[in-house]
Amino acid sequence: MKQKNILITGGAGFIGSHVVRLMVHKYPETNFVNLDLLTYAGNLENVADVAGNPNYTFVRGDIRNAEFLKDLFEKYNFDGVIHLAAESHVDRSIENPLAFVETNVLGTVNLLNTARNWWQDDFDDKLFYHISTDEVYGSLGKTGLFTEQTPYDPHSPYSASKAASDHFVRSYHNTYGMPTVISNCSNNYGPNQFPEKLIPLFINNIKNNKPLPVYGDGQYTRDWLYVLDHARAIDTIFNHGKSGETYNVGGFNEYTNIDLIHLLCDLMDDKLNRPAGTSRQLITFVKDRPGHDKRYAIDATKIKRELGWQPSVNFEEGLSKTIDWYLQNENWLKNVTSGDYQKYYDRMYAGR
Ligand code: NAD
Ligand code: DAU
Repeated sequence: MKQKNILITGGAGFIGSHVVRLMVHKYPETNFVNLDLLTYAGNLENVADVAGNPNYTFVRGDIRNAEFLKDLFEKYNFDGVIHLAAESHVDRSIENPLAFVETNVLGTVNLLNTARNWWQDDFDDKLFYHISTDEVYGSLGKTGLFTEQTPYDPHSPYSASKAASDHFVRSYHNTYGMPTVISNCSNNYGPNQFPEKLIPLFINNIKNNKPLPVYGDGQYTRDWLYVLDHARAIDTIFNHGKSGETYNVGGFNEYTNIDLIHLLCDLMDDKLNRPAGTSRQLITFVKDRPGHDKRYAIDATKIKRELGWQPSVNFEEGLSKTIDWYLQNENWLKNVTSGDYQKYYDRMYAGR
């Protein structure tokens, strides 16, 4: 039987690196190619521990470059694609929407086109799996959950670009019969997340006694999922998901930002041996994010019912493990927060 070759895009980023590690170890008979441009968010340190595995290859390249993708498919004859590469930060999308169109929309369509041309519409045993976000569904009121039937209503340039890419993936299924699956996941947290997102940014700021910039009144709700649970869901969906389907993935774990930040501050005081209440004093309410979505919450019953996946990590335990990882990996944090990061941080928080 032919050995399978699977393309994982964005495998040097936060979620992608956990997917790469899980799959390379779990499927030693399958070859995995990790394609990543190594933008500010991509970091080979995230996957350094799998670099020597015989079933793993890293390729630096850009999903916006169709010629490059064509050569890559020719070289590796991929059977499947797990597509995570993206611009992923809402605040950056507000600053530069076009970058999100280019990577998230054009990049995804390039990848779909290349796969279709290479497979020549013979899709036997092939699969294109697109990783998306719950943000495409817009914002919830006080009650209710996003289901797979919730109409799309994206509000930020980031979520609009992800929604557009989801539509293109579905269109390739409907128009050309390409086997595709999409999953829409809630907020991830865990090791290796770039410290522009809420949890790693606040861990880093608390460690350095810097203010914690809480947007608006802090009464915004997110549904948090430990990144390894998301990686397990991606493995499950890639191997058992039904072509043409969408699966919502979430933690059934809603927190308002301010409650989460209080919990984080208290855990940090404990771990840093600071008197109780020290970190909470760093909380600073700043100007709100424009178009800030009030509440996200995922109904993840379909993936549980049909594929048997459910979250396994309790939030307090996951958050505690996450803090430990950042405290133990000072060099990782130092490497990603120098230079460009500092400029980004000064620019982003200057007017708040
Ligand atoms: P990330 O920003 O940490 O990683 C993105 C990766 O994509 C980086 O390694 C980057 O170098 C790479 N990349 C960017 N542009 C590229 C290009 N043009 N060509 C090749 N590679 C490129 O993102 P993440 O948080 O790991 O998110 C991964 C995926 O999951 C994204 O599609 C995102 O929309 C989705 N998602 C994220 C979350 C979350 O909470 N982080 C939740 C749901 C869905
Ligand atoms: O819901 C899934 C999405 O979750 C993913 O698709 C995105 O890629 C990911 O970045 C994340 O988006 P959010 O905008 O929800 O994540 P972020 O960490 O930027 O913000 C979480 C909440 O915290 C949000 O309500 C804004 C708030 N926040 C964020 C930052 C960075 C603050 O109050 N202060 C901050 O400094």
